[in-house]
Amino acid sequence: MPKVLFVVQNISVEVPVGASILDAAKSVHAPQGDACGGVCACSTCHVYVEEGEELLSEATDDEEDILDKAFDVRMESRLGCQAKIERDGEVKVRITQESIEAFYNEHPEHRPE
Ligand code: FES
Repeated sequence: MPKVLFVVQNISVEVPVGASILDAAKSVHAPQGDACGGVCACSTCHVYVEEGEELLSEATDDEEDILDKAFDVRMESRLGCQAKIERDGEVKVRITQESIEAFYNEHPEHRPE
């Protein structure tokens, strides 16, 4: 099964082919925002894919349009809800500060002291 490693949190999870990075984050409560509920309409699920981008679905024009609105967009930027894992292997993901903040704003009960 494909694996996703959230590098800062050092959380690793196996997910089925077809799962998104956001699905992986939710399954282990990694702090990734999803203000629009994963329908490519915000940018709070913005992540940097540090390794394994070749295992992911290609970014669509819609994803690129939304990413344009994100902060500190880089070559390795993806929307976690749109990047689906299509092949076996390991994807290393760094959740952006923007996304972590969005997560804790939505879930203040999980914010570390
Ligand atoms: S959760 Fe809103 S674009 Fe991904």
